[in-house]
Order: sequence, then structure tokens, then C-alpha cells
Amino acid sequence: MAFTPRVFSGIKPSGDLHLGNYLGAIRRFVPLQETHETIYCMVDMHAITVWQDHVDLKRWTYEIAAAYIAAGLDPKKSIIFNQSQVVEHAELSWIFNCVARMGWMERMTQFKDKSGENSENVSLGLFAYPSLMAADILLYKSTAVPVGEDQCQHLELTRDIAKKFNHDFKKQIKANGHKGNFFPVTETLAIGPAMRVKSLKDGSKKMSKSDASDLSTIYMMDDADLIAKKIKRATTDADALPSEAAGLDGRAEAENLVGIFAALSNRSVNDVLGEFGSQGWGAFKSALADLAVSVLTPIADEMKRLVADRGEIDVILRDGAARARAIAQPIMDDVRNIVGFVR
Ligand code: TYM
Repeated sequence: MAFTPRVFSGIKPSGDLHLGNYLGAIRRFVPLQETHETIYCMVDMHAITVWQDHVDLKRWTYEIAAAYIAAGLDPKKSIIFNQSQVVEHAELSWIFNCVARMGWMERMTQFKDKSGENSENVSLGLFAYPSLMAADILLYKSTAVPVGEDQCQHLELTRDIAKKFNHDFKKQIKANGHKGNFFPVTETLAIGPAMRVKSLKDGSKKMSKSDASDLSTIYMMDDADLIAKKIKRATTDADALPSEAAGLDGRAEAENLVGIFAALSNRSVNDVLGEFGSQGWGAFKSALADLAVSVLTPIADEMKRLVADRGEIDVILRDGAARARAIAQPIMDDVRNIVGFVR
């Protein structure tokens, strides 16, 4: 069966957006709207798998919507909406809870990291999280998903769920008039520099919404002075920059900063090293700070303008949710029939 090339991705409103979210996800969403049908979401149902204050949850949800638009998503081209506004996400995730196996979920490294020593006491939602993520994607029969590297394992699981559903319900899928697979085997789009932006203070950790050190994360709403300060204080090693990418092996902090430079300037790592190779860190960090400020501050200014009037965003989200439902509902009708639910 031929599937419409359709892109889906989402971001969790569980903290302030940072450079990793921008480089690993948001900026890559924008060009796809020229070549694909694109659906982008704030996944508030994912956010509540750990405790969220309701005021913060709403604020972060609006902040992501604002970032999408400020970074160049056009609400006429892309569907932009909030996950909980389309209830079918919850319904399909329940069905997927019954398709996915416990062992698959137990292997998820992100669950292990997040639950740590405390796995008996985390929410059931946190454990089932990847099944909701598979539902987000497959509710629209999405064929490709742009994400940062940390989400790749969840996308493998999405493919496993799609394959198992296609296999388990093969007869009903055929009986309902579908030729071949019902769900696509979705492709992961995670290639390029900065697919895993690291903490500016510790090259062994990813940059994240929940880092205790203020200087390790560049937030999208940081002002120019703060961005420059964080870059200038970023940890580096004592050696000069190498002249080509191979020279970054085993130098996590150096690789991180050069990768950020390459991604922000749309250049290759080798090209950046061609310019800065064999120099010390001072000149490079100064150039990186200027570059980061020139890319991020116009987006932050537009985000601030947009979040000041939630009414404008509400209109976009209502329209997005209606368009998302229009795609999801016929697919869910088929799923209910295939599974055998009486309607
Ligand atoms: P979340 O909210 O943690 O992150 C949103 C996006 O940002 C990327 N990202 C990074 N990329 C590079 N370097 C980093 N340090 C970094 N930190 C975060 C993530 O890879 C992601 O693309 N489970 C997902 C949200 C989700 C989703 C989905 C994504 C729910 N349903 C369906 C795609 C499709 C998450 O928690 O992302």
C-alpha cells in the first residue's frame, strides 16, 4: 500500500526549550514543510508522565507553539496542535499498550535513566510512554519523524509496534479492504551535526531541560549576554582545534562545540574546521557566541511577542487540532473495526 509522505514530530512541554531542542528538532522541522505534509505537536500528555505544575505546563505548551512559529513553521502549511486536543492519541495508545510487550518497554534506556533506582515508584505512564509516542506517529500513518538521537530507540519501538499490529491483525486488515500493511514502517530522520547536543559543562551528558548547572544549557529565551557568557565559559580541552573531523575523536567537548557551530551555520564540520583548525579556543568561542546570538535572539524576540498574546496561538491550535482530527478519525475508525470494537 502506498502511504502519503507525512512527517510527524513533537516536543514535551516539561521545561524551557534549549539549544538541543532547536538543533535536534525545531530547525529541522521547517524545511520539511516544503516537501511533506507536516504535523507538529506539543505532547502535553507525555509531559504529565512526571509531575507538572498546571501553570507551568500551560506556559511551556504556549512556549513551544511560539518557538515553532518563530522558527519558521507556517501554520497554514504545517498542522500545529496540542496532543490532548486530539483524544484519539489516548485511544490508540491504549490499543498499542495491548500490542507492545513488557520486555520491549523494559529495554528502553530512557525509562531506565529516568526511573533510576526508583523504578517501583515512577508513574505507570512513564513506563508506557513509548507506546503513546508510537500512537502519536501512527495515528496519522506518518512515514517519517525528525528527532534528535535520544529518541531513536523509541522510534525503533514504534516500528516494532507497527509491524506487530500489521502481523497480528493481518486477516482483519485484509477483510477491511486494505492491501498490504495497515501502518507504515516509519523512517527516523536523525542525520547531521548536533543530533545530540551535549551539556556545555560535561561532554558526557546531553544538554537537557533539567540540568542542575545554569551554565550547561543555552535556553532559547536566553538574552544575548547570557548566551555569550555560557559559550565563553563552556568546558574545552587544552589542545587547539583540529583541522579535520577525525581529530575530534575522543574529544567530546570539542566535538560538541564544533557540531553546534556547523549546525547553526549550515556548514559541514570539516568546513568549519577548515576555517578554525589549529587555532586556540578564544577566537572560535567568540565567533560561536556571535553566531548563536545572531540565530537565536530574533527567534527569542518573536517568541516573546507571540506568548504575550495567547489568543493568537489558541486560534492556531484550534485550527491545527481540527485538521489533525480530520486525518486521525478515519484511521481510528479503521483501527476500531480491525480490532473488533462494536460501534
Ligand atoms: P523532548 O521533548 O525530550 O525533545 C524534543 C526534541 O528535541 C530533541 N532533543 C535533542 N536533540 C539534540 N540534542 C539534545 N541535547 C536534545 N535534547 C532533546 C529530541 O530528540 C526531540 O526530537 N518523546 C519525545 C517527544 C515525542 C515525540 C513523539 C517525538 C512524543 N511523541 C512523536 C517525535 C514523534 C521527547 O520527549 O522529546
